[in-house]
Amino acid sequence: MSASTANPLFACKPIEAAGAAGSGQHEFKRTLGPLSLVALGIGAIIGAGIFSLTGIAAADNAGPAVVLSFLIAAVGCGFAGLCYSELSGMIPAAGSAYSYAYASLGELVAWIIGWALTLEYAVGAATVSVSWSAYVTSFLGSFGLALPHALTASPFDSDAMGHANPGVVNLPAMIIIVLVSLLLIRGISESAKVNGAIVALKLAVVVAVIGFGAFYVKPANWHPFIPPNAGTFGHFGISGVFRGAATVFFAYIGFDAVSTAAQETKNPERDMPIGILGSLAICTVLYVLVCLVVTGLLSYTKLHDAAPVALAISQTNLPFLRVAVTVGAIAGLTSVILVMLLGQSRVFYSMACDGLLPGVFANVHPRFRTPWLSNLLFMVFAGVAGGFLPISSLGHMTSFGTLLAFVIVCIGVLVLRRTDAGRRRAFRTPYSPIVPIAGIVVCGALMLSLPLQTWVLAFVWLVIGLGIYFAYSRTHSHLGRRNA
Ligand code: ALA
Repeated sequence: MSASTANPLFACKPIEAAGAAGSGQHEFKRTLGPLSLVALGIGAIIGAGIFSLTGIAAADNAGPAVVLSFLIAAVGCGFAGLCYSELSGMIPAAGSAYSYAYASLGELVAWIIGWALTLEYAVGAATVSVSWSAYVTSFLGSFGLALPHALTASPFDSDAMGHANPGVVNLPAMIIIVLVSLLLIRGISESAKVNGAIVALKLAVVVAVIGFGAFYVKPANWHPFIPPNAGTFGHFGISGVFRGAATVFFAYIGFDAVSTAAQETKNPERDMPIGILGSLAICTVLYVLVCLVVTGLLSYTKLHDAAPVALAISQTNLPFLRVAVTVGAIAGLTSVILVMLLGQSRVFYSMACDGLLPGVFANVHPRFRTPWLSNLLFMVFAGVAGGFLPISSLGHMTSFGTLLAFVIVCIGVLVLRRTDAGRRRAFRTPYSPIVPIAGIVVCGALMLSLPLQTWVLAFVWLVIGLGIYFAYSRTHSHLGRRNA
């Protein structure tokens, strides 16, 4: 019996079971297997983080030891990934951390986490759409098709030196959000097929960078491996390695999006942990190798660039590889946007099923069987954010929402081990409570390293969310009505 029918907390029922013919509520199609899930994870993970942030973290924070920064961030994600895997095997409902929080920590915490996940998924998609726009603009520029700055930058943009350099609207960012949203409305299996093709392309590019680049590495560029601290916290030295980890954490965001597709998975109890941990492990290995190659090809002092991988590859005498890297990055960023927007609509679907949001968000399209109204809402939300906000603010908000979700998922494992110890777990987090507690500590430390402005904006976001909860959700929730 699935969680949606066994557990009263998950109110959405199949149309037949609910006797709600004509209500527009249909079940998702269960089409995804373990390989599709790993591809979904890789699709969400490899993107702006490795293609853009590696160079910034190496040049400003860690030097060649950005490799260590990637490993530290991977350890934090690994702890959270183990906890995600336990919960996804226990509670195979769409909605990811939201559903897990609902089952373990109650409605209010679930609402907060669902609201925070909007930062991860919808704002994350907007962040990556801005990076997509930069790569496409530079790609077109290399063929003499220069797009005007006014139409490729937000009104709040600044240049590499931090000086204001505003545009009017970032049109390419808006366009990619609209295109991906329309694809998602068309259907999960169509989206999964497109995602599979894109993932294959970006993996081929990443492997080519490693394979070809390795022959041109100059080991002298790896010395000093950890450049001495330059006098301030986070500017090289050990503190720089940790600040670098907070920056490149963004590169791992996405493995958890696998858990939002549980209701579209043939055998979620078995396949969810494979999808989550498999995609995380593959990406960690690839990231470490790419970092070694990039910092080995070019001195870290020269890597402060929006396209550091392409820049480093230009040190080889292989011009085709530079074009391939740009094309691979554009493809990679597209699939990240796709999986992020997919995850967002599934989270809202679950929240609407529980009565915390209006029922329209649980409305599944009768033919395409996708939550199309959620897709449309977030097409507008993420499109406006990508079109009018700068990448740095968007990126930090994304990391905040993600880390908050990770912390709550780790807490959820600890709580459910006590309150529901007897329930079957297809996957058990090893060394509990050490691993969940380590996840809370590492992710909490990364949250603390985010700028104060991010904390303020996140607080405002939370206050708005709580306003909606007390004005609407509390009285409309299925749980609340049962208790009334
Ligand atoms: N991990 C995703 C990226 O790097 C969000 O683009």
